[in-house]
Amino acid sequence: MKIAMVGSGYVGLVSGACFADFGHDVVCVDNDPKKIEALEKGVMPIYEPGLADLVTTNVRGGRLSFSNDLGSAIEGAQAIFIAVGTPSRRGDGHADLTYVHQVAREIAEKLSGPAVIVTKSTVPVGTGDEVERILAESGTPHRFAVVSNPEFLREGAAIGDFKRPDRIVIGAEDDFGCDVMSEVYRPLFLNRAPILFTGRRTSELIKYAGNAFLATKITFINEMADLCEKVGANVQDVARGIGLDNRIGAKFLHAGPGYGGSCFPKDTLALLKTAEDFDSPVRIVEAVVKVNEARKRAMGRKVIEALGGSAEARGKKVAMLGLTFKPNTDDMRDSPAIAVAQALDDAGAVVTAYDPEGMELAKPLMPWVEMKANSYEAIDGADAIVIVTEWDAFRALDLDRVKSIASTPLMVDLRNVYDPADMAEKGFTYIGVGRG
Ligand SMILES: NC(=O)c1ccc[n+]([C@@H]2O[C@H](COP(=O)([O-])OP(=O)(O)OC[C@H]3O[C@@H](n4cnc5c(N)ncnc54)[C@H](O)[C@@H]3O)[C@@H](O)[C@H]2O)c1
Repeated sequence: MKIAMVGSGYVGLVSGACFADFGHDVVCVDNDPKKIEALEKGVMPIYEPGLADLVTTNVRGGRLSFSNDLGSAIEGAQAIFIAVGTPSRRGDGHADLTYVHQVAREIAEKLSGPAVIVTKSTVPVGTGDEVERILAESGTPHRFAVVSNPEFLREGAAIGDFKRPDRIVIGAEDDFGCDVMSEVYRPLFLNRAPILFTGRRTSELIKYAGNAFLATKITFINEMADLCEKVGANVQDVARGIGLDNRIGAKFLHAGPGYGGSCFPKDTLALLKTAEDFDSPVRIVEAVVKVNEARKRAMGRKVIEALGGSAEARGKKVAMLGLTFKPNTDDMRDSPAIAVAQALDDAGAVVTAYDPEGMELAKPLMPWVEMKANSYEAIDGADAIVIVTEWDAFRALDLDRVKSIASTPLMVDLRNVYDPADMAEKGFTYIGVGRG
């Protein structure tokens, strides 16, 4: 089957490469000429484990190609995916659908045969109806259906998630949409991946409900962590104690500096806006958004307090280990590290940092931070070391070396990577999250 993937970012490129690996004939389209030029040379625009090899294999196999030209890319395609960004709209937090609508109009204009248009981008309820209206009003003579197929992959584990998904959700309103999508995902049907066929609006809402639920779980355990610190309890044991209950589950119960990334912050906000528009408030999610926002900067204050308060922090050197919102990605969008670095700078601290993949994208977001070539260069002369992201590279630091090069052996571990007793034994002043 021929597939066109419009938008070759995290989702478009990973999905396109995986569909090609299933045996489909895929063209990935992007309107950023530099991205396409780089991809044609085998240079990946993002860091994602295994992606470069997957792309190279499928390009060599003749199943995957790249293009700036939407018209030729969609020629003969039975499924045309829209995988462009849907960022928060400036000012009100609604999902900005400019790119989705622009692509829908371009598809409508250039459609040259029957096709199913699939929104893979995360879009608010009713967006499929709008895409359908754009196509219908264009007067295209070709048969089309508009389907919702939200993506659940996680950055850092994207290929595995795409090829072995927990579930595939397809929101279709007619047989044409269902039939073409069944063919697209046939290789996964054979693997018995659970597939949920539902209405288009339901499918659109599933994506937001899922992300809001996960954001709630993270925020819940973060508040429990604060309570643990006050009452002298251990949040990791609390998380294990509740997570072993099958009704709750152990995942997303790691206390930390708050959720970030390209999805949860914008998707929770967009859900609030949808709820507001339909006069059906989602008060739990409202609280989650507020608590999480406040938490990121509070983590900066936690470091300042560890340094002895704002008067003491001025001029002190702080080494941040990890900048991306989670390990195994270079994505800096809404990373808690930004608020932490800002709070430290506001307090007059001098900040150095090291991140295995995120420094290029982090630099313009925190120009006052001095990026270093490795953990030890960042730590050299530091009055405090802050673990912000739990990259594997920070799990096995040579603690004797760290102690000998740091100015003060003070570690604020926002990811609870280290064991407090071990750290005390090594002579560190150690502050974790929720380990009262
Ligand atoms: N990143 C994730 O982990 C993830 C996971 C699930 C869902 N999503 C959703 O998937 C969508 C895409 O996210 P992403 O992270 O891949 O975004 P991204 O910013 O990495 O990629 C979007 C791409 O679309 C391209 N684009 C924009 N307008 C275009 C146009 N008119 N024609 C062709 N290309 C165009 C951009 O140049 C860019 O390369 C969003 O709605 C997001 O919420 C993302």
